Amino acid sequence: MMAIFKKEKSQPLIVPQHIAIIMDGNGRWAKKRGLPRTAGHKKGANNFRTISDYMNKIGVKYMTFYAFSTENWKRSKEEVETIMNLFKDYLIEAEQRLLETDMRMIFIGDRSVLRPDLIELMNRIEAASKDNTGAIVNMAINYGGRQEIATACKKIAQKVKAGEIEPEDITEDMISASIYTANQPDPDLIIRPSCEFRLSNFLIWQSAYSEFWFDNVLWPDFTTRDLDRAIHDFSNRQRRFGGVK
Ligand code: IPE
Ligand code: IPE
Ligand code: MG
Repeated sequence: MMAIFKKEKSQPLIVPQHIAIIMDGNGRWAKKRGLPRTAGHKKGANNFRTISDYMNKIGVKYMTFYAFSTENWKRSKEEVETIMNLFKDYLIEAEQRLLETDMRMIFIGDRSVLRPDLIELMNRIEAASKDNTGAIVNMAINYGGRQEIATACKKIAQKVKAGEIEPEDITEDMISASIYTANQPDPDLIIRPSCEFRLSNFLIWQSAYSEFWFDNVLWPDFTTRDLDRAIHDFSNRQRRFGGVK
């Protein structure tokens, strides 16, 4: 069930059950101001806090944020290190906040190659919030959609090898249940700010019938009003899923 969100003096909006955001444009935001790219990442990380709190407030039940892709390792050591340090700051804060929130945190992506201090915090936060019944926040770190599907294929192939299933038994539902977002609905709305019109390897399985919202503003400048605009537009879309309406 999607929540209905009523703002003063405006018509009610249909709030998507699952919103996914590609947090892009941090580097350009900094460059425009003559600042190092790392300053953009700092501002972007703060904006993640603002937007995720707001989404929780208006009743979004599932959120997925793209923070670092499997391709982002191509960047300079300094930039990668800054992003990982900002991620750690967030993890420390999130662990403390778990006491006062009912949100459930899930980290999607291959964490095995991340720093041990990060892995430890991620595992702890996931375990501590696993029985929470509030909104689910998926944070995509070292995430790649192709990598996710390849990993799911390996898991399923192991079951075939063990004689638990036959190749003919493989279904779409089985693949959905073998990826990071198992048991979650697919994203209803995927938002990408910063004037880029591509998925960049984000949720490529899950986005088969997602609605898209591309925005010109850069992620650090993306406000709750911009999110309202996206949701307003989503409210007026007609989703057919291949059928007729
Ligand atoms: C998104 O902002 C953050 C990550 C990819 C980690 P960018 O760093 O890609 O910013 P632009 O696209 O260069 O402006
Ligand atoms: C996608 O942005 C990844 C994240 C926002 C984390 P990129 O900046 O890496 O994507 P491209 O390179 O423009 O496609
Ligand atoms: Mg970018």
